[in-house]
Amino acid sequence: MTDDDKRAAALAAVEEVRPGMLVGLGTGSTAAFAIGRLGELVRGGLDIRAVATSLRSESMARMAGITLLDFAGVESVDLTIDGADEIDGRLFAIKGAGGAMLREKIVAAASRRMIVIADASKRVERIGRAKLPVEVLPFARAFVATRLAGLGAKTAVRAERSDQGNIIIDCLFPEIPDPSALAAALSGLPGVLGHGLFLDEVDCAYIGGGGRVIRLEK
Ligand code: A5P
Repeated sequence: MTDDDKRAAALAAVEEVRPGMLVGLGTGSTAAFAIGRLGELVRGGLDIRAVATSLRSESMARMAGITLLDFAGVESVDLTIDGADEIDGRLFAIKGAGGAMLREKIVAAASRRMIVIADASKRVERIGRAKLPVEVLPFARAFVATRLAGLGAKTAVRAERSDQGNIIIDCLFPEIPDPSALAAALSGLPGVLGHGLFLDEVDCAYIGGGGRVIRLEK
């Protein structure tokens, strides 16, 4: 069962949390299992603080009794645990189906260690089949959409805005043969505020499937 696999991956990652840590809380259904488990441990006496990567995770953490810091005043995070839409053996990931990739990438970049948790359906040979979300300043919508199509993407603007009030354009590429080149092209487009290609951030992945969890380490 996918939920069991997500939960198993989340619990394995939470094992790495130590007292006193500042923990980055990811977004999505898999990260929710990690937040729930951390809440249990906190209620049992574990002393941690956390930062959240989305408004949803923030309210989940608050309800779970986890002490939250405002990330605006945080320079570095000890350990972040977050989900992914695709992850490959290079620990390249596509994230952002939940629309939180901008904050997720900032928190991941600030983290000494970043763990992806996922069920086995997310493990791929090479990333590139999942929709790649791009967060765009509303002012730049048509310009950026045209440039994204020029890069070979089929594009669709989401109905919902991001937590920051920006537009999210989902991009479907026939393939992504050179993720680094694509990441550079996206980052170089004025009006693009962030995207879901995570190429440098992930240190480790716990993948749940078939009743066990495998760990991939960079
Ligand atoms: C949120 O914006 C995403 O990056 C999620 O971490 C990702 O979509 C995985 O979500 P699920 O765990 O719900 O599949």
